[in-house]
Amino acid sequence: MNFNVCFNNYVTEINNYLKDTLFGKKGLIYDAMGYSLYAGGKRIRPVISLACCDALDGNHSAALVYAGAIEMIHTYSLIHDDLPCMDDDDLRRGKPTNHIVYGEDTAVLAGDALLNFACEGIVSKDELPAQMSLKALKIIYSASGAEGMIGGQIMDMLAEKEAPDAQTLNLLHSKKTGALIRAAASVGALSAGKDENLFNDYSSSLGLAFQIRDDILDIEGDAEKFGKPILSDEKNNKTTYVTLYGMDGAKKRLSDETQKAIASIEFLGEKGEFLRELALYLLQREN
Ligand code: IPE
Ligand code: IPE
Ligand code: MG
Ligand code: MG
Ligand code: MG
Repeated sequence: MNFNVCFNNYVTEINNYLKDTLFGKKGLIYDAMGYSLYAGGKRIRPVISLACCDALDGNHSAALVYAGAIEMIHTYSLIHDDLPCMDDDDLRRGKPTNHIVYGEDTAVLAGDALLNFACEGIVSKDELPAQMSLKALKIIYSASGAEGMIGGQIMDMLAEKEAPDAQTLNLLHSKKTGALIRAAASVGALSAGKDENLFNDYSSSLGLAFQIRDDILDIEGDAEKFGKPILSDEKNNKTTYVTLYGMDGAKKRLSDETQKAIASIEFLGEKGEFLRELALYLLQREN
């Protein structure tokens, strides 16, 4: 199947799943959660989970539940990342940020509630193999916690005051953005009953490439297409791949990591077609 069609099918499936999770729930907290969750994110992480699972002919409905949880956690991380005390941005997914619409107090709570909701979404699925779901929770919650995404956000924050060296920036990116992308691939492999580390090389390179592209678009992007403000990193004195290696250096690294990701899944043969195309799509994305 054509890459775009396949990608859009995955996104539709994920959007339908996420819509169902909040269906019929009313009140301020649900409105604020839904505002960001349905604002039109690219759904890259859940697409990775589903595609990794499908490349191994795994349990697709299990992967969808775990993928949905990852997207909820990712969305909460964006709500908090945009707060005035963090990056202080007012545009996200092409819309005013959560705190601009609902106020900082509700935005903090909407993020918190999405983190809880992600866990509830998994533990409430009695039809899934309990051991598999337990492992998924371990993977997802260690990737999003102090050793993973939150740890990366802390490093990112500290780096505003003292510019990190190349090694520290790699570690920062591998936690801040890489950890959830690795978890997305891991739960895909897990859903297929395979070693959860099977896609580690692929997802590590992809995660790094993804953040490098984000750093590039923060400078070269078009805010309308990007769906978030440009020059946010400069405003916040961030060290990025571009500040460290220059624009050409960052682009070279982006291309190298993309090639590494593609090379790492040769073992999948024809079944790796979508994941290969996905790496190439992320290399060139404009949003
Ligand atoms: C933005 O992630 C934050 C980064 C880790 C670069 P995405 O670019 O996946 O954002 P959405 O989900 O499409 O809005
Ligand atoms: C934040 O990185 C990644 C998160 C863990 C939320 P950025 O601050 O670069 O993400 P954007 O550019 O605001 O999406
Ligand atoms: Mg940030
Ligand atoms: Mg930000
Ligand atoms: Mg950014």
